[in-house]
Amino acid sequence: MKIMLKFLAISFAFMLIATGCAKKTEKPPVGKEKIEAAAVSIDECVTSPDQKVSPAAAKGVDFKTQLKTAGKLTFGSDIAFPPFESVNPSTNEAEGFDIDLGKEIAKRLGLEAEFINAGFDALFTQSLPQGQFDVAISAITVKAERQGSVDFTVPYFKADLSLAAATKDGLTNIEDLKGKLIGAQSGTTGEDCAKVIKDQVGATEVRSFETALQAFDDLGAGRVAGVINDLPSSKQILKERPALEIVQTIDTKEVYAIAIGKQKPDLRVAINKAMKEIFSDGTFANIYKKWFAVEPPFPLPPADFPN
Ligand code: ARG
Repeated sequence: MKIMLKFLAISFAFMLIATGCAKKTEKPPVGKEKIEAAAVSIDECVTSPDQKVSPAAAKGVDFKTQLKTAGKLTFGSDIAFPPFESVNPSTNEAEGFDIDLGKEIAKRLGLEAEFINAGFDALFTQSLPQGQFDVAISAITVKAERQGSVDFTVPYFKADLSLAAATKDGLTNIEDLKGKLIGAQSGTTGEDCAKVIKDQVGATEVRSFETALQAFDDLGAGRVAGVINDLPSSKQILKERPALEIVQTIDTKEVYAIAIGKQKPDLRVAINKAMKEIFSDGTFANIYKKWFAVEPPFPLPPADFPN
């Protein structure tokens, strides 16, 4: 009972942070949008963990018996989402914030990390429940609907969504998508929010792409007018696409966690333990600084965050 209450209390704390308050789109002051994108909150785009869903209980077996391949921690990931996961073109190896975190977790469990490129939208419905890999790390937002088919570890990141557009088109906010095409990666919170925006502002269509990078390719080519995607990833992707910019942030305060099949509860508990150590001994802050150049700007789950 005590544990349950604590779980609810902590979920609630996350919900509080995640819920925010709804407000209508405000036009940024003239000239300001180039310096800092204005923010908007859309209730239906806020994604929060469902406090009613508890992950599968540990079976009390050695977590190593739940690994797909002995000695390896196999991660599925859509490795096209910098700076979280991308393929380094010169080494052809996966690299990024999630990749470093995944390697550190594997190391602490005495395992070798292996990353398998996987389609994002099939992670929750097919590949994880079918056991194609042990876990998925892919800047995955904890979301009630996903909690029906997979479990999540402790959260390790907070993000919002954003609208990116071509500078030359002069869009300043989501209202400017009226009568236009919106792009997003298939199966993501960005796609969900793009559908809400479409109905809210009267956009023509939401076009879904296999990867976020493909959505940005089409934005660059003028085939869509805007892309809704996680802000930290869009910021990174736009560094190499100077004709595009973030015109508005969409305040969703979603949290990322590692997703795991419900058939591997003891592995999830072992990963949680490793993650909490990584948070508390400064390793997480180092990985964060490596990829984001600053200290983590959000609080990390405490050591007694429930398993
Ligand atoms: N955070 C968003 C979601 O969970 C987008 C994640 C996309 N990740 C990726 N590696 N493509 O829906």
